[in-house]
Amino acid sequence: MKVAPSILTANFIRLEDELKSIEKGSDYIHVDVMDGHFVPNISFGPAIVEQIGKLSPLPMDIHLMVEYPLNWVDKVNFPTTEFITVHAEAHRFAESIKRIKFIGKKAGVCIKPSTSVETIMPYLPQVDLVLVMGVEPGYGGQMFIQSQLEKIKQLSDLKEKHGYIYEIEVDGGINASTAKQCKEAGATIVVAGTFIFNFENRKERIESLK
Ligand code: DX5
Ligand code: ZN
Repeated sequence: MKVAPSILTANFIRLEDELKSIEKGSDYIHVDVMDGHFVPNISFGPAIVEQIGKLSPLPMDIHLMVEYPLNWVDKVNFPTTEFITVHAEAHRFAESIKRIKFIGKKAGVCIKPSTSVETIMPYLPQVDLVLVMGVEPGYGGQMFIQSQLEKIKQLSDLKEKHGYIYEIEVDGGINASTAKQCKEAGATIVVAGTFIFNFENRKERIESLK
């Protein structure tokens, strides 16, 4: 299992140390951009994303929780940006996927807990990542919604059946036990915020997810 710590719950006053503390064992750094419209919360914008990219050697996995992702794709295109993921519930998300690929980055599509896999079926052959939310997007520290496991399984079956290449990533409510359930359902990457950043020994926490 690949692990992407979510920087959302880190201490931003000590950003450099926080990034250092998760470097070992992590595969990506998950970066949540929120606009206060698509979700009822605001996190940070491209200027902070740029700083994260400069301070950490980890590839950035950028999760755009914004109403108009097409306006933000180019603004989060930094040298260490690996994935840019847009929500299927956002405006012009299909054009955003095209734009992400055009600028040479890997494109992801994300579905909220109430959005079905059927909604994104036509886009599955084009994307590099499908992000399944384990909670309602907007805040860290919520409990994993068990019914999302079925979607992971569905995406995993479709991937095998059609030979698709996307990663199956799960975000929200991840701990050692939900990560295991996600792995069994076919997930390839888990995102974890509070499970990693609310504890001193981060290396151990990351290992337990792997
Ligand atoms: C929530 C964000 C997540 C969040 C996960 O909307 O997309 O990345 O940081 O936090 P935990 O792991 O605490 O559920
Ligand atoms: Zn996220």
